[in-house]
Parts: sequence; structure tokens; C-alpha cells
Amino acid sequence: MDASQRPDRRAPIGILDSGVGGLTVVRAVMDLLPQESIRYVGDTANAPYGPLPDEQIRRLTGSVIESLVLAGCKAIVIACNTAAAAGAHAQAVAQYRVPVLEVITPAARTAARVTRSGRIGVIATVATVDSGAYPRTVAALPGGDELHVVQQACPSFVDFVERGLTSGRQVTGLAQAYLDPLQRAEIDTLILGCTHYPLLVDVLQQVLGPQVTLVSSALETAIDLAAALSDLDLLSPPDAVPEHEFLATGAPGPFTALARRFLGSDVVPIGSQP
Ligand code: DGL
Repeated sequence: MDASQRPDRRAPIGILDSGVGGLTVVRAVMDLLPQESIRYVGDTANAPYGPLPDEQIRRLTGSVIESLVLAGCKAIVIACNTAAAAGAHAQAVAQYRVPVLEVITPAARTAARVTRSGRIGVIATVATVDSGAYPRTVAALPGGDELHVVQQACPSFVDFVERGLTSGRQVTGLAQAYLDPLQRAEIDTLILGCTHYPLLVDVLQQVLGPQVTLVSSALETAIDLAAALSDLDLLSPPDAVPEHEFLATGAPGPFTALARRFLGSDVVPIGSQP
């Protein structure tokens, strides 16, 4: 990218998800890159993405990404495994000049690094599990063909998180049922293959015990983002005053409450996207 085409360094980073899950990635980006402005869109009008067909997920995500690019974002982070698994990342990379990052590769890379036994579990939405994106990505890493990946879809987790229910008897019971096959497969590392799941980390760790390492893509994705911005000379200057906007395509409701709980920010509804 030559200087005439380069977006403004002070422009925001666009981050998107179907709902509140991507806020876990936002948190990591804010911690690592505190001088950066962020424009976040939770597509709550169309969430959850997990049960939808790939074509529809690509279309919905494509329209949110387009709105972020048109708003002048200098980089895009698809903070949604389901969207990346459905091909939205590849589609956006081909379509836009700005860097577009996703969350599957960073999580797969971290899990491959931290596992001791080589037995890695993945929990994710039905769409992500069905796509086979995680086993494929892990297998493509150096030494990845020696790693064993076991997947488990957890269709109800996203609904609980979107309703702000991240602890209690019901969530724990659900986690026990979902995680049982992975415990029997003797995993020592669990990829949280949906950006909503780090909000359930206490329950998941309690059910699995301390011997299982939980891996979320948030920090590694933020590190990849920092490297991409630095390579393209797009990091905000140190004197930049960061602005953080949190938008929901549907009723802000629990989204506002959760954003405040995790980030202390206000959420503005921007209306539904078709
Ligand atoms: N947070 C999302 C993910 O990482 C999507 C959840 C959903 O909408 O089903 O997969």
C-alpha cells in the first residue's frame, strides 16, 4: 500500500461479531493497543450466526464489514469464529485493501504451542464445528499432523451469554454435558472456538479442572493485529486520543449491559441490517 492509498493512522479499527462475544477480543485490543480507536458492531438483529447456513453468514458479515470499511476503518477484525469458518474472512480479504484479521488461526496456533499431550479439544458453534475449520487449521501448522483434535458443538452457550447468564446451576449443568466427551477423550488443552465462550471461562475451568489449559483467541488476535498495523505503518500515533464506539444492529438491551460490565462503555443502536 503506498502512502496515497494508506488509510488515516488515527482511523478506528473495525471489530465485529454476531453479538457480545467479540467484546472479548475488543478487551484484548484495548489492553494491547490503548491508543487505538475502535468501532465495534454486534449484529444482534441477526444473532446467533451458529445455526445459519454459510451463505447467509457470509452475506450478513459482509454487510457489517462493508459498513465498517465505508465508515473509514483502517483495519477489520472478524471477531467471530463462525463467520470466519463460513468463509467471510477469505471473502473480505479478496474484496478490501485494508487488513482483515480473523480469530481461528491465532487460537489454533496457541493451542498447538501449549498442549503437552497433543490432545486438543475445540468447543464452538454448530457451523464452526461442521466447517472443520479448526482441525484443518491445526493440521496445517508445523507438526500439526501429530496433534489430535476433538470437537464439540455447544449450541446453547451463545444464547446464555447473550442473555447475560454466565454462571449458575443451569450453565454449569450444560457445560458438564457438553464437556463430558472431551474429558473422556483426555484433552489437556481446550480451544474456546467461539468468542462468546471466554465469558464462561470460570464455569468451564471449574468443570474441566486446572489440568486443562483454556485457549481463547483474544490476546493472540490482538498481537496479530498489532503486527499487521505496524507492518503497514498504520499504528495510531502516541498522541492520538482513542474513541471507542459500540454499536448493535438490533435492540441494545443485554448488549449494553454486558458491554458496560466488561468494558464500561455505552452502546448505541444503529438499526437492523437486512
Ligand atoms: N461469537 C461467535 C463465534 O465466535 C458467533 C456466535 C453465534 O452467533 O452463534 O463463533
